[in-house]
Amino acid sequence: MSPTPSKNHAHLSVARPAAVEAPIAVARTIREVKPYLATSSLEAIHGRPDQVPLKLDWNESTVPPSPKVISAITAFLGQEHHLNWYPVLNSTNLIEKLERFHGLSGDRLLITNGSDDALDTICTTYLDPGDTVLVPSPTYTHFLVFAQKRSANIVPVYGEDAFGPNLEGIIDAAVRLRPRLLYLVNPNNPTGVIYSPDEVSAIAAACPETLVICDEAYSEFAGVSAIGLLEAHPNLIITRTFSKAYGIAGLRIGYAMGAPEVIRDLRRVFNPKSVNVLAQIGAMAALEDQEYLNWYLGEVKASKALIEAYFQRRALDCRITPANYFLVHFDQAPWVVKRLQEEGVYVRDRSGLNQLAGYVRFSIGTTDQTRDLLKRLDQILDR
Ligand SMILES: Cc1ncc(COP(=O)(O)O)c(C=O)c1O
Repeated sequence: MSPTPSKNHAHLSVARPAAVEAPIAVARTIREVKPYLATSSLEAIHGRPDQVPLKLDWNESTVPPSPKVISAITAFLGQEHHLNWYPVLNSTNLIEKLERFHGLSGDRLLITNGSDDALDTICTTYLDPGDTVLVPSPTYTHFLVFAQKRSANIVPVYGEDAFGPNLEGIIDAAVRLRPRLLYLVNPNNPTGVIYSPDEVSAIAAACPETLVICDEAYSEFAGVSAIGLLEAHPNLIITRTFSKAYGIAGLRIGYAMGAPEVIRDLRRVFNPKSVNVLAQIGAMAALEDQEYLNWYLGEVKASKALIEAYFQRRALDCRITPANYFLVHFDQAPWVVKRLQEEGVYVRDRSGLNQLAGYVRFSIGTTDQTRDLLKRLDQILDR
């Protein structure tokens, strides 16, 4: 008998930690780790089938991936042996494509289960307890969990203005502290601060004993990359993802690019079968459809003009980033977020981050979706 899938997912929600003593103590290195606190809007979305949702909370693509991705996966599933075999080990099939795409040799590439997996693998490979990790902040906080798992000493570097560059501050701290790792998100999530390749090069040159991670999760939107620096800076590693511009966050696939010696060392701990077969096939097809990617990038860019004009008109502090999201300051951010959710718009309140009190982050989608968003915003702000 085949199991009947339940439409009600409530029973699957993760239980709150009980205030009783755990039967088995966790490892010493894990005791101080604070879980990445993220709530998904999916349960709320599934609970409102009457509404067209605008899911703008996690900076995913707002449209399905290229139709070529769907065809490739469907064709694969039509074959005799599909899911019963392990995937191609180390995703050498995708490495071949990325070699050509980026003009890099395969020994500089590691394909991972989302770029989070690349960040985690880097922390596992390079951090001993107490090692210093420098983090220009505020930034993507999930990385902190990977560093905490290794009992690292995380040192955030804040500039005077969260939305302005802080090149000197970063270089000063890197020279003074000589960290094992420096985690630079470029363009940054959520502030959108972006450093040019020359500036990234200056950071990498200032701390040759530090592995500088340049997280380029949003680089397709910004059109800026440090890939051209890899040859000159063996202490630089770049992470990329198929979750954002390529629209396959649900498949979980990303990659790292670095010096062959660094990639070789990452492979010491990396599980060669951790990237699933559908993710490999989907990523290869997504990469081949650059026309579709460019269409989506164009839509996001055109949306930014609409957003800018709208918030200027409303005299609200809006920070449009070079990536696919913007931040708006609201005096009553939690109320706005709640009202937006009632209107089917799911966004991320970033008020809890240092220097970002009152700021709410919205992902940017197509121009049609943006017009719809602005209409729904009108309904809330005009009341
Ligand atoms: C800066 C940054 N890096 C990495 C990730 C995670 O990406 P992936 O889905 O590839 O694990 C995100 C997701 O929001 C992100 O914002």
